[in-house]
Amino acid sequence: MVSIVVGGHYGDEGKGKIVSYLAVKDNPLYISRAGVGPNAGHTVYVEGKKYGLRMITCGFTNPNAQLLIGAGVLVDIPRLLEEIKMTDTDGRIFIDKRCTIIEQEHKDADKSANSKKIGTTGSGCGPANAARVNRTAKQAKDFSELKKYLVDVPQILNDAIDAGEEVLIEGTQGFGLSLYWGNYPYVTSKDTSASTAAADCGIGPTNIDKVYAIFKAYMSRVGEDPYIHYLTDDEINASPVFARLLKNADEKGLDGTGNQKIAKVLGEVGTVTGRPRKIGEFDYKLARYSAKINSATDICITCLDKLFPECFGAKEHSQLSTEALAHIKKIEDAVGVRATLISTGPDVNDVIDLRDGLD
Ligand code: GTP
Ligand code: IMP
Ligand code: MG
Repeated sequence: MVSIVVGGHYGDEGKGKIVSYLAVKDNPLYISRAGVGPNAGHTVYVEGKKYGLRMITCGFTNPNAQLLIGAGVLVDIPRLLEEIKMTDTDGRIFIDKRCTIIEQEHKDADKSANSKKIGTTGSGCGPANAARVNRTAKQAKDFSELKKYLVDVPQILNDAIDAGEEVLIEGTQGFGLSLYWGNYPYVTSKDTSASTAAADCGIGPTNIDKVYAIFKAYMSRVGEDPYIHYLTDDEINASPVFARLLKNADEKGLDGTGNQKIAKVLGEVGTVTGRPRKIGEFDYKLARYSAKINSATDICITCLDKLFPECFGAKEHSQLSTEALAHIKKIEDAVGVRATLISTGPDVNDVIDLRDGLD
C-alpha cells in the first residue's frame, strides 16, 4: 500500500507530525521525502524532544523504517549531514543519485529583490530549481561526500510496491503554495500536490492507494501573499474562539496587532525562518478545491487543541467537546472528505485515529 501526505492549505499544517504518527502506526518499510527541498520545516516532538527537520523525513521516528529522499527533492548537503547526525539515522537513510544539489550561489541568488517580494525562505530552492531547468545544476552523484548515501529511489520503491510492502511518501509545503495552483507569483518553485510528490519519488499514479490532505483547524501563512485574507481585529473580536485567544494574549502582555497577538498565542512562528506567521480563518473553499486536485482519500485536522484547549491530548472521539466536533463536521461537510486523523497535541501520540470507523 502506498500513502502520500500533503499540505492542504499554505504549508505548516503539521504534516511532519502526521507523518511521524503514520510511520509508527502503519510501520512502512520505506518512507520517502518528496516536495521542494530544505525550504520546508517540519516539527515533531518525540518523548518531549523537539526535532526541526528540513531534509530528512519525519518518519525517522520509526527505527525499523528505511528512509529515502526522492530525485525531485533539492538537497542542501551540510544540512542533510547535520540532520543525519541529529536523528542518528546513518545506515538507514539514502538519497536518489539524481537529486539536485543546492549550492552557495543559489542561496546568494535567493536574496534578490524578487525573492524578498515573495518572502522566500532564502534556502536557495527557487534558484536551484531554475538551474535544474536550465541544465546547469549539479546532481547528488557529482559529490563524493554523498557517495555512501546514493541509491535509485524509484527502483527501490517500485520493488517494494511489487512485493506488497507498505510505503509512505512525505510531501512538503501546501496546496496554496503550488507553482501551478497557488497565488502566483507568491508561491514556491514547484507544484506541491500529491501527483508531484509521487513523481518526485518515481511512483506512477496507478500505484497510489491513499492521499492524506492535512489541514490545520485554522489557517496560517508565512511569507508574502497579498491575495490571502487574514483575520482583522473586528473578525477576531466577533469570533468567540479567536476572541478568547486574544484575551489570553492580552493577559500575557503580548504586543502587536490582533492577528500578531493570536499568532503568538498559537505559537505560529516559522520553523525555517523564525518569522511570525499570519492567521486566517479556515478557508473552506480552498480546502475543497485542494482535496479534489490532490484526490484526497482522507483529510487530517491538526492543532484542534489550539482552538479548543479542552481537547488537548484527546485520543478518542468521545473526548472531544461539542464545539470541536461541530468545527470538524463543518470542515468535513465543506470539503466532502472524512477527517480520519485528528491531531490534539504536538506529541506523536496525540492523535484520534478514525480510519477504521468511529470508536
Ligand atoms: P511544512 O512542510 O513547512 O509546511 O511543515 P509542517 O506541515 O510539518 O508543519 P510545521 O512543523 O512547520 O508546523 C506545525 C506546528 O504545529 C509544529 O510546531 C508542530 O509541532 C505543531 N503541531 C502539529 N500538530 C499539532 C497539534 O495537533 N497540536 C498542537 N498543539 N501542535 C501541533
Ligand atoms: P521558497 O519556497 O523559499 O522559494 O518560498 C516561496 C514562498 O513559499 C514563500 O512565501 C515562503 O514563505 C513559502 N514557503 C516555502 N516553503 C514553505 C513551508 O515549508 N511552509 C510554509 N511556507 C513555505
Ligand atoms: Mg513548516
